[in-house]
Amino acid sequence: MEQKPWAANNIGSQKGKTIIITGATSGIGLEAAKILSQKGAKLILPVRNPAKGTEALKEIKQRDKNADVELMTLNLADFESIKQFAENLLVKHSKLDMLINNAGIMWPPQRELSKQGHELQFATNHLGHFLLTGLLLPLIKATPNSRVITQSSVLHKKTQGQNFDPSIQFHDLSFCKNYDTKKAYAQSKLANLLFTYELDRRFKLANINAIATAAHPGYTATNLQKDAGFMMKIMNVIFAQKVDMGALPILRAGTELNLQGAEFFGPTKMNELKGYPERVQSSDASNNRKLAEQLWEVSEKLVNHKYQF
Ligand SMILES: NC(=O)c1ccc[n+]([C@@H]2O[C@H](COP(=O)([O-])OP(=O)(O)OC[C@H]3O[C@@H](n4cnc5c(N)ncnc54)[C@H](OP(=O)(O)O)[C@@H]3O)[C@@H](O)[C@H]2O)c1
Repeated sequence: MEQKPWAANNIGSQKGKTIIITGATSGIGLEAAKILSQKGAKLILPVRNPAKGTEALKEIKQRDKNADVELMTLNLADFESIKQFAENLLVKHSKLDMLINNAGIMWPPQRELSKQGHELQFATNHLGHFLLTGLLLPLIKATPNSRVITQSSVLHKKTQGQNFDPSIQFHDLSFCKNYDTKKAYAQSKLANLLFTYELDRRFKLANINAIATAAHPGYTATNLQKDAGFMMKIMNVIFAQKVDMGALPILRAGTELNLQGAEFFGPTKMNELKGYPERVQSSDASNNRKLAEQLWEVSEKLVNHKYQF
């Protein structure tokens, strides 16, 4: 008999759990927040735009009037904001069951820089989450079975018409020369996976009772594609999957029981663009341990924070 696909009704009670979701003001993060709230979790939502945060909170409460949600301020493209967020959080909270590193930007038409001068996609999608996770490590270590889940993309690998092999450009991480917005996005999403696998190895080496997992949402219609041109807007309407489907991989990576760590979930239909979430393969580059170690060391230097395992 064929197995039923994994969907939101597979998620058990999340009562008693404290969960941080970045990027919950729209798209996949907002949908994941609604579901996890309905399952009983306490949510901490770090947002860069307070008005959007209030709007998101309203939507979450419309779905679940008993939602327990704390809005906080965080701009992932500014290391000072991340440090301030972590400092405020550590004063108030003593545990963290799930950190969902989901926020992201894609394909800004011009090269933009973060507050500290790093290419904006690499800074927001990778460096910001790298620093955030490092600063929240005391809470992760203090919480049995804690989980760090990071949102990658199918575009971390050569597929979907990309005519280049995504790589980590150590010689020019910020694309000072020859800016290519698609290569910069692919680099950041490959970095998300290298980070996840290395974090999971380091948890195990240090005997920390936590795991790191990853997901990708296939092609889901959200605000992410706002800079991606007219054709993409049409594709969003006729082809992309809806956000309730797009949120499933990260929810599975966050809530499925008995994971060992380093699992990667994504849709399996239409070249991984659509469908229910299953375990999927990531690229050879993402599994390259040397690359992961090198990225880890460079990232620690760039964010000026050494992880204390
Ligand atoms: N949608 C897809 O097809 C697709 C495919 C592959 C991967 N992904 C990944 O899925 C994740 C979620 O994207 P989405 O599709 O849900 O897009 P979205 O609707 O645009 O949501 C992105 C979220 O990230 C937040 N964000 C962006 N920059 C930030 C910053 N500097 N500091 C704090 N928050 C910031 C946004 O906040 P504001 O509301 O303030 O802008 C928003 O809440 C991203 O990592 C993306 O790369 C999506």
